This record gives sequence, structure tokens and C-alpha cells, in this order.
Amino acid sequence: MTATIGIDGNSADYPVRQGSVGPEVIDIRKLYGNTGRFTFDPGFTSTAACESKITYIDGDQGILLHRGYPIEQLAEKSSFLEVAYLLLNGELPNAKEHDEFKYLITRHTMVHEQLATFYRGFRRDAHPMAIMCGVVGALSAFYHDSTDIHDPMQREIACHRLIAKMPTIAAMAYKYSVGQPFLYPDNSLSYTGNFLRMTFGVPAEPYVINPVVEDALDKIFILHADHEQNASTSTVRLAGSSGANPFACIAAGIACLWGPAHGGANEAALEMLRQIGRPERIPEFIARAKNKDDPFRLMGFGHRVYKNYDPRAKVLGEAATKVLDTLGISDPVLDTARELERIALSDDYFIEKKLYPNVDFYSGIILSAIGFPTSMFTALFALARTTGWIAQWTEMMGDSEQKIGRPRQLYTGHPRRDYVPLAQRG
Ligand code: CMC
Repeated sequence: MTATIGIDGNSADYPVRQGSVGPEVIDIRKLYGNTGRFTFDPGFTSTAACESKITYIDGDQGILLHRGYPIEQLAEKSSFLEVAYLLLNGELPNAKEHDEFKYLITRHTMVHEQLATFYRGFRRDAHPMAIMCGVVGALSAFYHDSTDIHDPMQREIACHRLIAKMPTIAAMAYKYSVGQPFLYPDNSLSYTGNFLRMTFGVPAEPYVINPVVEDALDKIFILHADHEQNASTSTVRLAGSSGANPFACIAAGIACLWGPAHGGANEAALEMLRQIGRPERIPEFIARAKNKDDPFRLMGFGHRVYKNYDPRAKVLGEAATKVLDTLGISDPVLDTARELERIALSDDYFIEKKLYPNVDFYSGIILSAIGFPTSMFTALFALARTTGWIAQWTEMMGDSEQKIGRPRQLYTGHPRRDYVPLAQRG
């Protein structure tokens, strides 16, 4: 099939490509050569920037698939490490592959001892995401034997290192902020259990892992593992397209994730719910969200792709109740969240604009109940998303059609003009 695009009486045919599911795409790579025109698509709302086999989202139906598997099934039946394997390798592992992958990851959980001194250069009140950007970027200065992107073995080791070290790096950022000693990883624990111990344990006494908390956090990691070509993943791909090493690319992804419109929304959503405080104040905030002159938005609501309930929010809404019940926490924020959701979903403004709760709406409530400060929320998102980033980076490195990313622009500045010496300027 082809699409005909005609400009100034000249038309040309462009191939229409069909994915395995989802909308067809018009391959316009020859458009500029044929017509001398670019397309204009700020925010890439109509642009597929790459071909990918990893994650599929149907935003209208509220469907999210990793390598074909629905996210609800993975969240209920799988583990984060298994999902990481799936994203990286394309198939669920058999028992032997699972054990080998677990072995490989757990053998990379420690970080170079010199990195501890790197942390000590930060202020104690540094935001964990500032530390994560710096420390992850610095990994390329510590692991020279896995920065040659043309060597498949080095690429694989870099992937394993990143997945394995992110919990250690994030836990160290937390420990540094509260002035407690860093804890070395314990490889006898699960990926998520080890992270909980490194975060909340102390050297003075054994740390007992609550299985409900471990399970809920593992679910949160699974739900954040990948999400197609979102802003931070596109950033990782763009950085990688120039040949930058994977540690530098992931540091770029972390920087992008930090923004409140992306990964920072979980922190902002909980702060908003706390600011609302009690269900009676919800109408005031709904009115603000609808007011065009007020920059306030309902954080944890709306999504560029989902125009239906975010399937991740559904899983987390249920998990929030379970975790709070198990921990015996009665948090009025959960009541406020449920009531806000109920009111917003029956309000014309939100119905018309198809604004539904997204993954960030309930995740903060769970993380807060587990004991994480809000400043750590986005760091946990980065920890989990590293698997998606690195899977997407790996896929891009093996893509023969991959080119350096180089968008063009619609230039609206001055046309050519001559330099005026300082003395002659008015
Ligand atoms: N509250 C109130 N109004 C909203 C909201 C909201 N949360 N989100 C979008 N709108 C309105 C917006 O004002 C606009 O109205 P109008 O057409 O009258 O100008 C319309 O809906 C479309 O908004 P948009 O900004 O053009 O949509 P977008 O696709 O560019 O933005 C978004 C998507 C996620 C940035 C946005 O919905 C938002 O800012 N949400 C709050 C932040 C948030 O929760 N982000 C987490 C996203 S999920 C996690 C992730 O994947 O990173």
C-alpha cells in the first residue's frame, strides 16, 4: 500500500508500513528529497521515530503489552527480573535461563568502592535524581571494559551492570541523604528484597523483609519497566544514536525522566493529594485544573497516549489498598485519591478530554506507605525504567536502519542580515 502526497501539483507515492498491531505508518523519509518540505510535528504526536518489537500501547483501549504479554498478567504472575529478561531478550526465560540471568545480575550488584567518595561530593540535601544523573553518568569513568558499543559482549555486560547496580546506586542516594552508612548488596535476597534492605536496613541489626511490601514494590518496578517511545526513552535513543556509551545514555534518560510532566509526576501527585488534604476540598482543585488561566493540573491525571484508564493505574489502585491494609496504615490521602478519581471521572471536562488516572496517581501512596520520602519516588521510577531504556538502546544498536537522530525545524527567526558594529547600534 502507498500514500500519495501532492504539493504544488506534483505528487509522489510513499510506502505505508503495517506493524504487527496498531496503526499503519507512512514512510516519509523521501519527502524532503521529493518536495523540499519538512513535516512539522512538535512533541512528535504523529511521528513514529523508530521500529521496535519491545512494547505496544493501545491508548484508546488502555492496553499495554511487553513483547506481546499484557501488563496485568506480568504484574500478577511474573517478577521484575523476569520482565527485565523478557524486555532484553524478547522471550520469557526457561528455568535455566532464568537462573543464569539472576546469577549474572546478582554478580554485578556491587559498585566500585571509589563511587562512595563520589557521593560524598554532594550536599546531603541533594535531590536523589541529581545524584542519580551524576553517578550513573560517572559509571562510564569506572567501567571502561563495557563502553565499547561496537563489541556485543561489552554491550551485554553494560546492560547487566546497569540493571544490577541501579538499586545499589538509588539506595546509596537515600542513605547519603539520611546520613546513614551505605549497605553492601546481599545477593541471597531477591532483586527487590535486596533493594529494600540496602535502603531501610542498618548494619547494626538484621533487616526483616515484609513479603507484602516486597511484592508490591516488585509490581511497581514491573509496571514502570518500559513504556514504548516516551520522552526519556526517546532521549536514551537519541543520545545513543550519536554513539555515546550506554552509561551516558542512561544518565541522559534519568535527566529527562526527572521532569514533573514525566517521571516527576509521582512526587507531584502525592504532594498535590496532601495539599488537597481532605475530600471536601476536591471541588476547589478540580475548578483550578479546569481554569485556563491557572497553570495547575491534576497531577497523576492525563497521558499523551492513554485516552482511557492507564492499565498500570488499575493494578496500582488495587495494590495501594492491599499494602495500606497489610501495614495497618490508614492514610486519608488514599480516601482523597479515590474521591478525586470518582469526581474527575464524572466531570465533563475530564470526560471530554479523556483524562484518566495514570501510573503516577497511586504509586506515590504505596511508596510513601512503604517508607520512601517523596524525593525518592522518581529515583525508583528510574531504577525500574533502566531495564526498558537499556532494552530499547540494545534494540537500536542492532537496527541496520539506525541513523543519528537529527530533527529539523520550522525557522521563524530573522532572515539573513548584516552585522552592525557596536558604535553604530542605537
Ligand atoms: N489536569 C487538567 N487538565 C489537563 C491535564 C491535567 N492533568 N492533562 C491535560 N489536561 C488538558 C490540557 O490543559 C489540555 O487542554 P486544552 O486542550 O483545553 O488546552 C488538554 O487536556 C490536552 O493536554 P496536553 O498537555 O496537550 O496533552 P499532552 O498529551 O501534551 O500531555 C501530560 C500529557 C501527561 C503531559 C498531561 O496530561 C499532564 O501534564 N498531566 C499531569 C502530569 C502527569 O501526571 N504526568 C505523568 C504522565 S504518566 C507517567 C509517564 O509516562 O511518564
